[in-house]
Amino acid sequence: MFNLNKISIELYLMQKPYSQACENNKSYILNILKDAFSTHSNVLEVGSGTGQHGVHFAKNLKHLTWQTSDLLENHQGINLCIDDEPVDNLKRPLELDFAKTWPIELVDGIFTANTLHIVSSPLVDAFFKGVGRHLAKDGTLCIYGPFKYDGEFTSPSNAQFDLWLKNIDFNRGIRDIESIISLAKKEGLLLVNDFDMPANNQLLVFKKSV
Ligand SMILES: C[S@@+](CC[C@H](N)C(=O)[O-])C[C@H]1O[C@@H](n2cnc3c(N)ncnc32)[C@H](O)[C@@H]1O
Repeated sequence: MFNLNKISIELYLMQKPYSQACENNKSYILNILKDAFSTHSNVLEVGSGTGQHGVHFAKNLKHLTWQTSDLLENHQGINLCIDDEPVDNLKRPLELDFAKTWPIELVDGIFTANTLHIVSSPLVDAFFKGVGRHLAKDGTLCIYGPFKYDGEFTSPSNAQFDLWLKNIDFNRGIRDIESIISLAKKEGLLLVNDFDMPANNQLLVFKKSV
């Protein structure tokens, strides 16, 4: 016998997560990804969050396969987002934690948005190690989010956001672009573009030469 009450409570709890920020930034990011990933065929998105970016980018970059991924706790939301707008070239999430072995072979593109300030600094190191292992030679890494330059925030609101993050965990926070460039370099990646984006964010494009 089905327990209808239990099923309706579960259905009620399975609400699709939604990010207004993703809705606001997705078309600006897409404009850059169209060029950055123009010749690519397999892109891994790390930290897919709600899945909204994955759906939008896969729908508009039909020449490539977009692989979503995140910690297991976000998979239900990403799957609900994909259920609402299935796209042939969009893959359901892999369980990927920066700190563990990445469940994927080589890809020619990696994208991540708003993750490097959320995770602790050792996990930022782990992220770049993972990129070094799983991004093919001549591959492209695109990172969207806020950064500091010469130790300075690009806006007062980013400085406040950084304080808020550090109050939760001192190892979190908006990263210095110089440390990001240096971590990337250790993995054979060079910064080829740094785009100013709305809402005091950047889109960094790196190329892997080894
Ligand atoms: C602020 S959200 C950004 C989500 C989405 N990319 C966006 O722009 O809205 C940070 C993301 O990082 C993911 N994340 C946190 N720790 C992680 C880890 N150790 N490995 C992989 N992803 C992680 C979270 O699950 C979440 O999806």
